[in-house]
Amino acid sequence: MENTDWKNLPFGYVKTDYNIRCYYRDGKWGELEVTSKDHIDIHIAATCLHYGQQAFEGMKAFMGKDGNIRLFRWQENAKRMVSSAEGIFMAQVPKELFKEAVVKAVLMNRKFMPPHGTGAALYIRPLLLGTGAQVGVKPSNEYMFMVFVTPVGPYFKEGFNPVKIAIVKDSDRAAPLGTGQIKVGGNYAASLRGVMRAIDAGYGSPMYLDAKEKKYIDEIGAANFFGIKNNTYITPKSDSILPSITNMSVMAIAEDMGMKVERRPVALDELESFEETGACGTAAIIAPIGEVHDLETGKTINFCKDGKPGPISEKIYKRLLGIQFGDEEDKFGWTEIIG
Ligand code: PLP
Ligand code: COI
Repeated sequence: MENTDWKNLPFGYVKTDYNIRCYYRDGKWGELEVTSKDHIDIHIAATCLHYGQQAFEGMKAFMGKDGNIRLFRWQENAKRMVSSAEGIFMAQVPKELFKEAVVKAVLMNRKFMPPHGTGAALYIRPLLLGTGAQVGVKPSNEYMFMVFVTPVGPYFKEGFNPVKIAIVKDSDRAAPLGTGQIKVGGNYAASLRGVMRAIDAGYGSPMYLDAKEKKYIDEIGAANFFGIKNNTYITPKSDSILPSITNMSVMAIAEDMGMKVERRPVALDELESFEETGACGTAAIIAPIGEVHDLETGKTINFCKDGKPGPISEKIYKRLLGIQFGDEEDKFGWTEIIG
């Protein structure tokens, strides 16, 4: 990875040396396997291909100034992958197996770890697939779990600079009693219409509203939404959004900084009253929102008046990154040195 412009690394796929795989057959998981191939060979009737029986995770490993590699809250990702598996009737990946595969994938690809100080990290993508053949709509009895890694910069090309968001009302990412709370590929297929509507109109990401009434803010593309006012961090509570591990961490940081934290339905009508707004997630990190434009009504709300992120978002962002990269005390015990 010599000659890599780490500071301007996009969020994309870079082939690394190894990925890890494990197969579930006859009711049990086998041994971890290491491969250098970045293709898989699966049955033409596999349930992941036809019926979307698939789930994934997104997490990161960070290179510290001390040369140590840190994982951030991997237990939460392992837990969420279990709920995703439960949600669509897949075999669950035990926590220990999840960790072993993640650690192996990171350490075997050590040379792809972005250096400290570049802002980039090693993105980890655990993936669970239904691989058994079914033609009727039924859960598979065979599964494949794999983990690959790829070095990435921030998801939004703006980095920690204001992004423009478009409110999309003519398509929904997830139904109230659907699969919005778990991390399954089908949600992302359903989100593409909104993503492309936003991108085609010149915006970075869509804002999804609640599917039932279109009255409340759900989330921002592949990230949770937050708003800040009166020293209070406010983030939506909804049955159709992904419980973000970044957001969970930011809530704890905000509280630790002496702010009040509210997790409750956030009406779209309330948007204008926020002093700062942002999107947060593993890939997005913390992306301050500069503008929200309603594609239906044409109304625009501006934040970041001088084109700069708000001071509280910046403080939270620095604290989160400080913990992840090991530059600040990890008083919450969120990071684990793995090598
Ligand atoms: N919401 C959606 C739809 C996502 O895809 C993600 C990314 O994983 C998030 C929120 C943020 O979650 P996390 O902070 O756990 O990465
Ligand atoms: C993440 O933040 O890890 C995500 O999963 C976003 C991704 C879908 C691009």
